Amino acid sequence: MKCPMQYFAARPTEGSKASTLPPRPRGHRLVGLLPGARDWAPFLTGMARTHGDVVFFKYLCQPACLISDPRLMAEVLVTRQSAFSKSNVLRTILGDGLVTSEGELWRNERRLILQAFHRACLPEYSRVAARRTKRALAGWKAGQTRDVYRDMTTLTVGVAAEAFFGSELGAEAEVLLDALQVAFDAFIIIASQAFLVPTLVPTPNNLRFRRAVRTLHRVVDSIIWQRRTRTAPGRSGPRDLLTILLEAQQSDPRLTDQLVHDEVMTFLLGGHETTANALAWTCYLLGQHPDVQARLAAEACELLAGEFPSFEDLPHLNYAERVMKESLRLYPPGWYMTRKALEDLELGGYRIPKDTTVVMNLWGLHRDPRYYAEPERFNPDRWTPEFTRSLPSLAYMPFGAGPRRCIGAAFAQMEVLTVLGGMAQQFRWDLLPDQAVTPLSATTLRPLEGVKVVLRQRDREELDTRLPEGACRPQADRLPERAHDRRSAIRRYSQPAAVGEMLLTKPQCAISV
Ligand code: HEM
Repeated sequence: MKCPMQYFAARPTEGSKASTLPPRPRGHRLVGLLPGARDWAPFLTGMARTHGDVVFFKYLCQPACLISDPRLMAEVLVTRQSAFSKSNVLRTILGDGLVTSEGELWRNERRLILQAFHRACLPEYSRVAARRTKRALAGWKAGQTRDVYRDMTTLTVGVAAEAFFGSELGAEAEVLLDALQVAFDAFIIIASQAFLVPTLVPTPNNLRFRRAVRTLHRVVDSIIWQRRTRTAPGRSGPRDLLTILLEAQQSDPRLTDQLVHDEVMTFLLGGHETTANALAWTCYLLGQHPDVQARLAAEACELLAGEFPSFEDLPHLNYAERVMKESLRLYPPGWYMTRKALEDLELGGYRIPKDTTVVMNLWGLHRDPRYYAEPERFNPDRWTPEFTRSLPSLAYMPFGAGPRRCIGAAFAQMEVLTVLGGMAQQFRWDLLPDQAVTPLSATTLRPLEGVKVVLRQRDREELDTRLPEGACRPQADRLPERAHDRRSAIRRYSQPAAVGEMLLTKPQCAISV
């Protein structure tokens, strides 16, 4: 592994190659790399391994630059972020919501929306997540084969709708998820044509896309309409993200109905899709590694004694946190980030022309052998505090970095730990044999054919001796008998894990402008 000090040595002197474009792979003379590589994440990773940390390429005539050194990523995302725009193609679906907006508009939106992600809001969100997970698991039976990707998507969209908009989607959830699937699939084709065929041209794919996006807008409109009618004068509703937006509209004319609509769309979609992917990939990895699954279950059973995790329990699920971190390393749902150069500039000693799209591939970064020993191996035990401290800055960033870091990072981690904690106590799961599980690196990193698992009843007796290294286990003979008292005692004895510190004591890490 690379010594962190090497980071500060041997950087090319500014300007040394600054008149040269970065090395470039061979591609078509005019259009550059041709579309069709569905496995973009491994493809880009291979390109970086062959050509180095800064690679110039053209994708369908558009100039692009792949960077793979976390120091350069820090320049783009943090120290020189004002020299770049976000260049977000998702605007076709999300409009001007927080993910896609820029400049003053983005700053105002972020400041406003942060209120809904204040640390004080998290315990209520965690209650929503636990209640909904409990309800979902009540319909699961040992012996069933289930697609956990679909299950997690249904669960997380329900959590997002209730937590942020106080909305019970009911049957609309299925309609929404189907439309979302169609929109994303059609969008992959649209994006792979680099928008050369405008979405207004009535090709079959464009028509499918437009129909699906219309359905998404209809569901969003109905969420807003319900709230407006429910909180008519004299009636009160929950103070959630939608309330914050609608209240702010009274005093801020810049917050148009369209903008409120775009934010609801952003948080309905962005608030569930990535987390569902994270959960599906974690279930997949745990299915491949029954020993890790058993250790995770042992910790959950010991700490939670059959209950669902409360917000206060989460920091003590130390081993579950390591599992989550390792899963987000190998399968980061937001697997890439892009920025567009607003001017000609220098990066890593090379010339980057104005309008070049800078691409950062988190899949490749998180599997880089310079930072991770045996990078392809699923090994939650690597996440010791010493290892975490030794990692160069930004060598691990599933939630991005800088001012545009994920606003929902704490929410997502809370939700993943809650679902895993509840699920692992009730069920053991094996992967359905002979299924193809293909990572599709498109808008997000999702399992193309889903993840099918066979459920078994969890046998808690067999878990007792399997408590993992780093999991909290105070002297069992000193623990009170009653489950509730045991949980309080364990919480007192055990050290909170790093994510716990983030959730409980350092909200500014997760929540900053
Ligand atoms: C495991 C789950 C998640 C992952 C891996 C993830 C990942 C990311 C990443 C990498 C970014 C930075 C994108 C960039 O800089 O170009 C981002 C931004 C964002 N995420 Fe997440 N996210 C997750 C969950 C969530 C949730 C639950 C929400 C909403 C509650 C959310 C809302 C957002 C928003 C609004 C932004 C844009 C922030 C801004 O530009 O100010 N994300 N996310």
